[in-house]
Amino acid sequence: MKVIITGDHAGMVLRNVAKEVLDELGYEYEDAGPDCTTSVDYPDYGLSAAERIVNGEFDRGIFICGTGIGISMSANKVKGIRCALTHDVFSAKSTRLHNDSNVLAMGERVIGPGLAREIIHTWLTTEFEGGRHQNRIDKITTYEDKVFKK
Ligand code: RB5
Repeated sequence: MKVIITGDHAGMVLRNVAKEVLDELGYEYEDAGPDCTTSVDYPDYGLSAAERIVNGEFDRGIFICGTGIGISMSANKVKGIRCALTHDVFSAKSTRLHNDSNVLAMGERVIGPGLAREIIHTWLTTEFEGGRHQNRIDKITTYEDKVFKK
């Protein structure tokens, strides 16, 4: 699995946690920045990283900003992205089982690195269940196909 990591200046610490978990699991990844704590705009990073997922360069993304809200809103504007803003392990597991989420968003100002590590590990290692859940995702995709040209 190939994973792209991104966020904004308020997500540097949890991005490093994500890299540690990815190293432990032996997954390939790219950290698409930003690589400094100077203030940046999360849509600039979230939108372009999300596009690289739907274009097939990466399988999944882990996006971190201060709350996780701005970066998840940005990611979910990209057709084909199912970004789950998740701050607990139950939701991390459920969103893989039921929603086949391809982006995990978290807020570094919301949770600490210990919980984030567990969430990331769970989200990366839980497989989509398919079945009735695929049917629901298909309804989202059908809507996207109808509304968005690209
Ligand atoms: C940056 O200050 C902060 O607004 C951003 O990281 C995020 O929380 C936005 O949703």
